[in-house]
Amino acid sequence: MCGIIGVHSLAGDAGRLIYDGLKRLEYRGYDSWGLALKLNSLKIYKRTGRIGKLPRAFFKGHCGIGHTRWATHGKISVKNAHPHVSQNRMVAVVHNGIIENFQELRAFLKKHGFTFATETDTEVIPMLIEFYMRRGLLFREAVRNALLHLKGSYAIVAVADNEDSIIGARNGSPLVVGLADNAFLLASDLNAIATHAKRAIFIDDLELVEANSGIKVFNVKTGHEVRKQARKLNTTLHSATKNGFEHYMLKEINEQGQAIKNACVQSDELIESTAGLLNAADKIFIIACGTSFHAALLGGYFFAKVANIPATAVLASEFPNFLTLVSKKSIVIAISQSGETADVLSAVKLAKKAGARVISIVNVVGSSLARQSDLNIMMNAGPEICVLATKSYIAQLSLLYLIANAVVKRTEQAKQELTKEASLIESIIKNNNVKAKKLALRFKDITNIFVIGKNENAVTALESALKIKEVSYIHAEGFPSAELKHGPIALIEKGVPVIVLCSNMNDESINNAIEAKARGAKIIGIAPEKHECFDYFMRVPNSRLFSMLSIIPVQLFAYHLAVARNLDPDKPRNLAKSVTVK
Ligand code: M6R
Repeated sequence: MCGIIGVHSLAGDAGRLIYDGLKRLEYRGYDSWGLALKLNSLKIYKRTGRIGKLPRAFFKGHCGIGHTRWATHGKISVKNAHPHVSQNRMVAVVHNGIIENFQELRAFLKKHGFTFATETDTEVIPMLIEFYMRRGLLFREAVRNALLHLKGSYAIVAVADNEDSIIGARNGSPLVVGLADNAFLLASDLNAIATHAKRAIFIDDLELVEANSGIKVFNVKTGHEVRKQARKLNTTLHSATKNGFEHYMLKEINEQGQAIKNACVQSDELIESTAGLLNAADKIFIIACGTSFHAALLGGYFFAKVANIPATAVLASEFPNFLTLVSKKSIVIAISQSGETADVLSAVKLAKKAGARVISIVNVVGSSLARQSDLNIMMNAGPEICVLATKSYIAQLSLLYLIANAVVKRTEQAKQELTKEASLIESIIKNNNVKAKKLALRFKDITNIFVIGKNENAVTALESALKIKEVSYIHAEGFPSAELKHGPIALIEKGVPVIVLCSNMNDESINNAIEAKARGAKIIGIAPEKHECFDYFMRVPNSRLFSMLSIIPVQLFAYHLAVARNLDPDKPRNLAKSVTVK
């Protein structure tokens, strides 16, 4: 949700590095974009919409900042696009987060003669910096004092006309510093900087970083310097190219076999410690949002069926309702691809306060969730650039299956089972891609799609519907198949497509599909064999983790629906990859 970047470059190519980074950050928001660059004076360039061409004159410079916006406060317009500047236009700031007390701060600044040009919450930040600079504070101290006023969440980078430093800071939104040969790059995530930086420093909440001829980190509250360690980056894990595919979504769907294998690469010690904590827990909660929540739901089935222990999946945003059940012996498994989802981080904070221990399952290296948990298991799925979660979902499921098995000392068997599932994925894609495309062309103008499944496939039905609606904007709903007759069947009319996910031909969902067909539905079967009630059929072999594989033909169908409707599957409207606001 909003991508920020700031560059201090000795080579004088700050503009180019920022522009390059913005293209890699665009998946965090694509309502508008902009740069502020210190050339002979502070120059600003802003546009609405997707990242377009940047004039050559902006490729230079030693210091600058950039932003790609997911609008929160203020409509999508050039005026509201970041960077925002101070009254005298000497300070520019990019911001990710929400300043909750911005109205109060505006009123305070207005009393001191400041006037505002935008509708954003961010604009108070450069104004406050100028407020302190006018009172004689140096740039870094002025930024620090400005930050002391802010309530809410922020990651910012600031640049000033007469200064050689760029200053970044965070509280509740991510910020990482990349160390390259000739440059320091401050950004929302590693994707923006990993092609240039060899090492990185992860900034923590209430820390401020100053980049000029070196890097120094300070505590925002005290102003004291903080010692930080740089971590070496594994650049192959962070390489984010389309690799010949037309879209990241298709590339990432194709990477799912590898994602399962990579998820299995975990230290025995980590998995044993996880199993130990789970075995000793009085209660286990699995919290997440969106697709990660669907993984949590399926995780509940794994824990019940494999480990014979209850694990309750709770939406992170609803977790406060369950706090009375949380004790010092409870374990919260928090799942998040980005590791920055505000609802998850806030639930984790509450869980920790109640004394629970937190095990996180995260994809983004160095993310807030990874660092705030007692134990962290990395998904190792590599960058997921498409806004839709595909390979991260399959990695999450693999890890939940692995740890449910570890609880009953079946880790090695589970790894073998997962490897077997991974080996099926290439042929599932090969056999179904063209079919999914034809189906998409057949149904691209439909208004409703329903998905049903029994047992674990009931969860896959929910995830299927989410994939279809977020990328194609076609209304889709998933149900446990038996629920169809308890209400949703009223929506079935002639020609409506109903996808049925069934792992075998005795599956009760077949009966429910027949009931829907009797009312005019067109049945798309995803199953190991063709059943006579299917109007269309996509084959997924019968396997132990069928519900994990049955999502793949639906992902392909959703992808082709978007393409057939002339939509960009990688950047669906109104969405952002990392939802860092509540
Ligand atoms: O980064 P997270 O896994 O915490 O993100 C959670 C959801 O925002 C995310 O899964 C979202 O639902 C995706 N757009 C799904 O494709």
